Amino acid sequence: MAREGSLRRSTSVLTRARRLGRKILRGLEGDSRSQQLRDEVLFWRHWFSTQGSFWPEDYKERLDPNLPIQDHVGRYVDRLTTNPVSILDVGAGPLTKLGKVHASKEIMITATDLLATEYDQVLRDFGIQPLVRTVFGDAENLSIQFGDYSFDIVHGQNCIDHTASPLKAIQQMLSVTKHDGFVVLYHAENEGKTESYKQLHKWDFTCEKGHFVIRGPGPGGDSVDATDALAAVGSVECSLDDGAVLVAIRKHQQRLSSTNC
Ligand SMILES: C[S@@+](CC[C@H](N)C(=O)[O-])C[C@H]1O[C@@H](n2cnc3c(N)ncnc32)[C@H](O)[C@@H]1O
Repeated sequence: MAREGSLRRSTSVLTRARRLGRKILRGLEGDSRSQQLRDEVLFWRHWFSTQGSFWPEDYKERLDPNLPIQDHVGRYVDRLTTNPVSILDVGAGPLTKLGKVHASKEIMITATDLLATEYDQVLRDFGIQPLVRTVFGDAENLSIQFGDYSFDIVHGQNCIDHTASPLKAIQQMLSVTKHDGFVVLYHAENEGKTESYKQLHKWDFTCEKGHFVIRGPGPGGDSVDATDALAAVGSVECSLDDGAVLVAIRKHQQRLSSTNC
């Protein structure tokens, strides 16, 4: 009886210890992503305090109203027949990197980021008026915020591999893209590996035999052929461009419903 009682007690101690362990682990996991996001804000605070840190040209360019739109996006602006062209820049940071002018078309940029509120405080602290104010937006929940079929081009640079689920983010980017419009992704190849999977760098993007491949999270993570995974929604072009992975996904045209008449 005494043995049974002490067995019950030790089992319940073990159960409580296991529960506590799981709770701590969940807490640590939660904390680690929120800590990584806090570190991202610190990075930008440093970037403003040093006017661009190692990238002073980048600092000037982001505040230049006459900067031409970068070629990796401009070439898709050219391929559209519309004018003006609406662009959603996802994970834009505090100052979108996108150039503000195109040779023949008017471009209208909406910039979003998960940390927009925190970036607003940083901008205030440094007295910076952005050319395009970044508004809050979660790459993994764009559809509910912006509505489907809202933008001609949806762009993400050096940020979709910082999300918790890149494939979900890309699917959301495609949802808010108009039929025949483009999702354009521009990321350093295998950034997770380069950064030893530290901070928000958990995913590797690459092109293999022309297919866009996502690996992760972390070392030894699963690999997904995103070209195949997204084929029902759009056709994916993947190329390597001087150490960067350039992915353009053209959303399929609207299918006309077939009728008998
Ligand atoms: C390295 S910065 C890149 C900023 C900018 N695109 C550039 O090229 O300078 C990555 C950005 O992704 C943002 N980010 C991470 N997860 C996100 C998410 N789920 N939704 C929106 N932005 C996210 C971070 O807040 C951060 O501003």
